[in-house]
Amino acid sequence: MPVDLFFAVPLLVHDADPAVRDATRAKVLAYLDSERAKRDIALSPEESVATSYYQPEASIVLDAQLNELEALVIAAGRAFLEQTLRLPPRPLEIERAWINLFRPGAQEAQHTHDGSLLSCSYYVEAPENCGCIVFPDPIGARRSYREFTRTVGRDLLTRREIAVEPRPGRLVMFESWLPHAVQCNKSDRLRISIAMNLRQTESTAPR
Ligand SMILES: [Fe+2]
Repeated sequence: MPVDLFFAVPLLVHDADPAVRDATRAKVLAYLDSERAKRDIALSPEESVATSYYQPEASIVLDAQLNELEALVIAAGRAFLEQTLRLPPRPLEIERAWINLFRPGAQEAQHTHDGSLLSCSYYVEAPENCGCIVFPDPIGARRSYREFTRTVGRDLLTRREIAVEPRPGRLVMFESWLPHAVQCNKSDRLRISIAMNLRQTESTAPR
């Protein structure tokens, strides 16, 4: 007997071409040696991550000239909206972009990127055991139901959460409302990610 699935949660996981991955890595490492990086990257007041998030006028995409990554993210956003969600085309731009450095032992509590259209993380350095990005089932009523009815399973339909392992060159994109967290970096090396929020190009957005 067929059972339909409703209210799906879209999640894009895409591994960039080696040329994009390597060019982006070289530019990010050069940026990290710059005076600008020393000025803009600071320890979060609430978290163990060091980030340029608290310099909102700074853009890691502009400051490190990550044009290959920008093109990849805009193309991914268009595919996400047009091919997966089957929405009409709309021009997209990066609203905000920042770098996150997770030293060994660092992690990030659950949060959302509310207020944007799409959000994504791109991994520049991702050593083994550096911590997954974790998306709990966003339907709270279903999370408690799963526990009291003992219907937690291993299938995508019955998991408590989805964990995506970072890899160098991997892009993970989702709708900005979707709660997520970053597990502890249990490696002995740095985990480097670029986070970006996307919006509809402002001059074309409905008022
Ligand atoms: Fe995030």
